[in-house]
Amino acid sequence: MVDIYWRIAMEGDQTSLRRPGGSRGGFAPDLPDALAPGRRGGAADSFTHADYMAEVIRSAEESGFVGGLLPSFPHTDDPWAAAAILAAETRTWRFMVAFQPGFLHPVQAARMSATLQRATGGRLVYNIISGGGGPAQLWWGDAIDHDDRYARTSEFLDVLKGVWYGDGNFQHEGRFYTVRDGGLPELLAGQPFPEIFFSGSSPAAIDAAGRHADYYLSWLEPFDALAAKFASVRAAATKPPKFAVRIDVLARETEEEAWAEIAAGWSAAPETEESAGDSVGWRRSQDFTAGADRADHRALEVEPNVWGGFHRLRPGPAFGLVGSYRQVADRLNELIALGVDAFILAGVPHLEEARRVGRHVLPLLHQPAGKA
Ligand SMILES: Cc1cc2nc3c(=O)[nH]c(=O)nc-3n(C[C@H](O)[C@H](O)[C@H](O)COP(=O)(O)O)c2cc1C
Repeated sequence: MVDIYWRIAMEGDQTSLRRPGGSRGGFAPDLPDALAPGRRGGAADSFTHADYMAEVIRSAEESGFVGGLLPSFPHTDDPWAAAAILAAETRTWRFMVAFQPGFLHPVQAARMSATLQRATGGRLVYNIISGGGGPAQLWWGDAIDHDDRYARTSEFLDVLKGVWYGDGNFQHEGRFYTVRDGGLPELLAGQPFPEIFFSGSSPAAIDAAGRHADYYLSWLEPFDALAAKFASVRAAATKPPKFAVRIDVLARETEEEAWAEIAAGWSAAPETEESAGDSVGWRRSQDFTAGADRADHRALEVEPNVWGGFHRLRPGPAFGLVGSYRQVADRLNELIALGVDAFILAGVPHLEEARRVGRHVLPLLHQPAGKA
């Protein structure tokens, strides 16, 4: 079965790819089309960003997605807190919390996770990210260099698992953490350990993923590059993980309609700045379109329907799928055939696009788990 998740817009949401800037979800309540929260008769209404996220989650759950990725950036709400707030809105929805292990002590992470598992019947999933360096990393107060971040991530997960299963006997003396007689209290012990989706394209990431990933999670790339990356993860793994890909989809009845949407967004898009970080994955994604004519959005279509310009139209990674419902479904089916076991799909605005993708694309996929 292929698990299909939807992304939750933790940074607020745009009304379309044609309009840069988020007017949904609370980060610009004064814009005329702001939604949850917004203004009524000039005064603030009482809706919050959590109300908008809850709407997206209900829409996605009803549309057949099994859960959602809650990303974590300096400009987003915090995914742990959001998951706790939103869990009561759903019964089966899985919350994939993105977090950088370095920012949390693993014992505290174990307690928080066990509490969430107990309260939600085991619906917490991890997206382990280790950061992109640069100014954003320092914003978090984290000055550790790239490969050491992965060493810390790896040790963090060792300690987290040690505490989870520790029974009061877990001992750890490491480079970053020391724990004596660790383990969860009886009340919290015995919960299922959250599935680990592990992200990162660098050799250090692939090495750590090989030790810890249940799913190796990548941004979309040209399919050959993705297949080669999966092979290197398999080769580095003690136990080969499953594979997952995070993909923006812009799917319409016809491919002409889909590309018209991209063209309109492209002409309204602001110039983006080069990332100042150390992310190998981001550099890879930019290299795939190096030399392409930036004035021509179609020049960024590196293979049929695989388009590398989404980062210009909304915050997030470069690559996604553009085309008719059938074309997008066919590409997703090719990825399933290539060994992908789970997708995290996204579209702007996340509320309406969850329904569109749920209605028109998910039924065309091979073996979707969905809401069978
Ligand atoms: C699917 C996916 C989701 C990510 N989500 C986040 C995120 O929510 N917050 C964040 O700071 N970084 C996120 N990242 C970026 C990672 O923190 C990291 O910068 C990136 O994977 C580069 O690592 P690398 O240098 O090993 O390639 C994500 C990466 C991937 C592949």
